Amino acid sequence: MPRAAAGAPANYPGRGLWPDVAATPAARARLPSMRKVLVVGIGAGDPDHVTMQAVRALNAADVVFVMDKGDDKADLAALRREICERYIDGPYRTVTAPDPQRDLGGPSYRTDVAAWHEQRVDVYERFIRDELDDGGCGAFLVWGDPSLYDSTLRILDQVAARGGPEFQVEVVPGISSVQVLAARFGIALHGVGAPVRITTGRRLAAGWPDGADDVVVMLDGSCAFTHLDPAGITIYWGAYLGTPDEILVSGPLAEVAGEIQRVRAEARTRKGWMFDTYLLRRTPPDG
Ligand SMILES: C[S@@+](CC[C@H](N)C(=O)[O-])C[C@H]1O[C@@H](n2cnc3c(N)ncnc32)[C@H](O)[C@@H]1O
Repeated sequence: MPRAAAGAPANYPGRGLWPDVAATPAARARLPSMRKVLVVGIGAGDPDHVTMQAVRALNAADVVFVMDKGDDKADLAALRREICERYIDGPYRTVTAPDPQRDLGGPSYRTDVAAWHEQRVDVYERFIRDELDDGGCGAFLVWGDPSLYDSTLRILDQVAARGGPEFQVEVVPGISSVQVLAARFGIALHGVGAPVRITTGRRLAAGWPDGADDVVVMLDGSCAFTHLDPAGITIYWGAYLGTPDEILVSGPLAEVAGEIQRVRAEARTRKGWMFDTYLLRRTPPDG
């Protein structure tokens, strides 16, 4: 089902901004009585990443939806709370549901992720159906930017496809961990006119991807860079970017891989969770 569902203003540009959504209750009252769901990027760990547009969106929401990821990610929940408390002016309501447990132990990663998504679809559908009145507005706070390794938009598509209550989705972009990484090291992510590949640790472990000499790696649970021949590769590695616990290490992969593994393991044990992102830069064959 397209996101600009029946009843949207004729000039509504689809996934773009619907200006009235983030305006006053009076302006919203003029809109068709469709539920609105805001998917708000909140940055990668520093409350100062939150954009003015995100603040406006948060203040337009009647309710903030929160998936509880359990104690080991309590820091992430605390940041979401801090953002709400700091930026939402009036009283606000949150509705929380436990995030379904991921079981990736099955024979197919894709099937396991699909099963996990399906459970989330149930929860999101319940949020929209039971917690929003007609014309009501709810917000999902998304870590970093919703376009990068985040399932919120796909799950909302699946909710819409089920044909339940109609709702309108609006996305507010956020600062992603990839942007913070580049900023911390003061680098561009790619050479002049060259591509950059963004991928996961799982895929990198299968080998250097084709078509790019610059590769950003996210969602790496086990230092996939150790599977590579380090010759000619420089790494720019950042953990807990934008937070008080931020750690940065860079240098020739052959020289710093061991240090990163050690520092990463220590930090993971200390905090109980780890978020790290890195850029691998390969000297091009003709470079
Ligand atoms: C589920 S993805 C979410 C990505 C997020 N949407 C973004 O735009 O950054 C989680 C992965 O993002 C990266 N990540 C998110 N926040 C980070 C941070 N503050 N520091 C380092 N890496 C981070 C890590 O690779 C982590 O495994």
